Amino acid sequence: MSNSDPVFAPIKIGNRTAQNRFVINAMECCDSDDEGNPTDRTYRRYKNLVEGGAGLIDLEAITVQYESRSRKNQLSVMPHNQKALTRFMSEMRKVDDKPLFVWQLTHSGELSHPDFSKRVCVKPLPGFGGEVIDEEYIEKTIDQFVLAAKIAHDCGADGIDFKNCHGYLDSQLLRPYNDRKWKYGGSWENRTRFTYTVYERISKEINDKNFILGSKVSIWEGFPGGQGSAGPDSPVMDLTESIDLVKGMEERGAHYIMVSAGSPSITLALSQPDRKKPDDVYLHFTFQKAVRDALKPETVVIGSAYSVLNNGDNELQAREKDENTLWYWANKNIRDGVTDMVAIGRQSLADGQMPVKLSRGQAEDVNWCIACDNCIELLIRQQPVGCTVYDKEYGAALAAIRKEEGKLGAKRT
Ligand SMILES: Cc1cc2nc3c(=O)[nH]c(=O)nc-3n(C[C@H](O)[C@H](O)[C@H](O)COP(=O)(O)O)c2cc1C
Ligand code: SF4
Repeated sequence: MSNSDPVFAPIKIGNRTAQNRFVINAMECCDSDDEGNPTDRTYRRYKNLVEGGAGLIDLEAITVQYESRSRKNQLSVMPHNQKALTRFMSEMRKVDDKPLFVWQLTHSGELSHPDFSKRVCVKPLPGFGGEVIDEEYIEKTIDQFVLAAKIAHDCGADGIDFKNCHGYLDSQLLRPYNDRKWKYGGSWENRTRFTYTVYERISKEINDKNFILGSKVSIWEGFPGGQGSAGPDSPVMDLTESIDLVKGMEERGAHYIMVSAGSPSITLALSQPDRKKPDDVYLHFTFQKAVRDALKPETVVIGSAYSVLNNGDNELQAREKDENTLWYWANKNIRDGVTDMVAIGRQSLADGQMPVKLSRGQAEDVNWCIACDNCIELLIRQQPVGCTVYDKEYGAALAAIRKEEGKLGAKRT
């Protein structure tokens, strides 16, 4: 490990420069107040991440409309949040103004929680459902995304990350499963209309050459009719549309594409490889390479799902232990042109200071994520999220809930 390793090289994203190749992935933690504003808990989390020295931080899924959200205490980006979000950004800059900060704009669609919000869908999917939306609804939602991007810009964010992944509204529209005959379904041209219109309008209406436009994309969702499948009822992988999508976003001004996979409510272990199924990390590498090969060199590719690698404490086979680490694969993948940057999701909860610790050669001081997925259990249970392994408060909270519920497994939403 040395400071001349590729992960420490700065990189240009649009007109901006990230100080290194580490990205803090979007991690919603269900701890806003009742209006969707950051609380003291939210401040603590992000202050820790800003101090951690990553090149880019992707603020968790922040809803563009409060009516359809998946988490009771989800951050929101609407006019009533502007003052609180401006203060939030200004406080983060005081901690350290070097990390670039983008906000992940989202609408939950069929993942909106029926207990406290309105579940809507493009075409009912077994196990989800919701009120079927029409063209007027989509057009209103486009306006909400554009307004949210303007608010992000005015609050001092460095850019936005458009969430085209994990089964949220944009994913639902893009899927082959959306074969409904309407302006936003059926043909590929119709299914991409929402995403492309939002992107074109944001580029045009914000018109700030320093504002970063990015998008996190599920390249393959891993179930019949999901993104990256061969047809509305086919589970067979066909990346033609996903690759066309990332190129289409690049043509419309995207400075980076964050490569993801899966849809956590359906294919959780694909979106975040766990201890039992760590080798899905290689599928992620494959998708990263496919996207890297398809885009122009100046468009940055960010790979995700690296947490399971940790310091080699995983069940990956056929390699020496020191070649199964996050550190090893991050450097190798950048060197081999698989990805340009490396995002950490769960690892950022386990230890948000990982980048700075590694830069000081203190790998042994890092709290390495063990990919146990207790944190996502807290999220599914609509509780404030943190690492239950290294943070006693969250560990105690989960233990108390499990005890109360007779140790029932987490209920999927
Ligand atoms: C608690 C939790 C919250 C998450 N929140 C988001 C989110 O807000 N937006 C998103 O795109 N992905 C979210 N994810 C997925 C991660 O960003 C990431 O894609 C996934 O965990 C794989 O990366 P990892 O192996 O580094 O954890 C979340 C995952 C977890 C465990
Ligand atoms: S709870 Fe488990 S999976 Fe989540 S961050 Fe902590 S160690 Fe990683």
